[in-house]
Amino acid sequence: LAPAKLAPSILSADFARLGEEVTQVLKDGADWIHFDVMDNHYVPNLTIGPLVCEAIRPLTDAVIDVHLMVEPVDSLVPLFAKAGANVMTFHPEASRHPDRTLAMIRDHGCKAGLVLNPATSVHWLDHLMDKVDMVLLMSVNPGFGGQSFIESTLDKVRLVRQRVDEHMAKGGTLIDIEVDGGIKIDNIGKIRRAGATAFVAGSAIFGQPDYAGVISRMRQEIEK
Ligand code: DX5
Ligand code: ZN
Repeated sequence: LAPAKLAPSILSADFARLGEEVTQVLKDGADWIHFDVMDNHYVPNLTIGPLVCEAIRPLTDAVIDVHLMVEPVDSLVPLFAKAGANVMTFHPEASRHPDRTLAMIRDHGCKAGLVLNPATSVHWLDHLMDKVDMVLLMSVNPGFGGQSFIESTLDKVRLVRQRVDEHMAKGGTLIDIEVDGGIKIDNIGKIRRAGATAFVAGSAIFGQPDYAGVISRMRQEIEK
């Protein structure tokens, strides 16, 4: 299994002090910054866009992992690439041509990924395995932080793990499996053992004062 990446979601950070929050959580051991983009159309909430990505880019060399919960998708790809995103993932049913959107993301120099909601079939990956660098499995319905982990995600992680392993055995490039929603110290271990390689956590990290403490306990659980 590829090394685990911890990706705190700044959705649960203090937006009045966003720069300090990003700097602090990385100093406290985070690997990536997970950046939730919501458009009040694809999901019932409204968050942050390319300008905010551009504002945090100079603070760090860490991967900025942009999760696009928007419809349509394509017009935002060049804007986030210019704003310094490293990874962009989108929900395939929100794009009219997912193959084209994946290619567009890579053409802009970023890693590309598909996001599958709890009720979205893994069949969306058919014919696209060569075009993705990451599969993001939602373990809550997208739109809000602080929801509880949907247990059936674990079976889905195992299913996608199998497909990714087969793809890699055939000489395909490395594909990360990221899980997003309701991840806490007490469930991150079983998500890792199902085969995930990247872990988004918003409220579990930013919802309490000791970021370093939670991050190191999450790592311990992952390595068990
Ligand atoms: C939900 C977002 C998640 C969310 C995770 O739509 O995609 O990234 O912030 O937050 P927690 O960890 O609180 O479930
Ligand atoms: Zn997210």
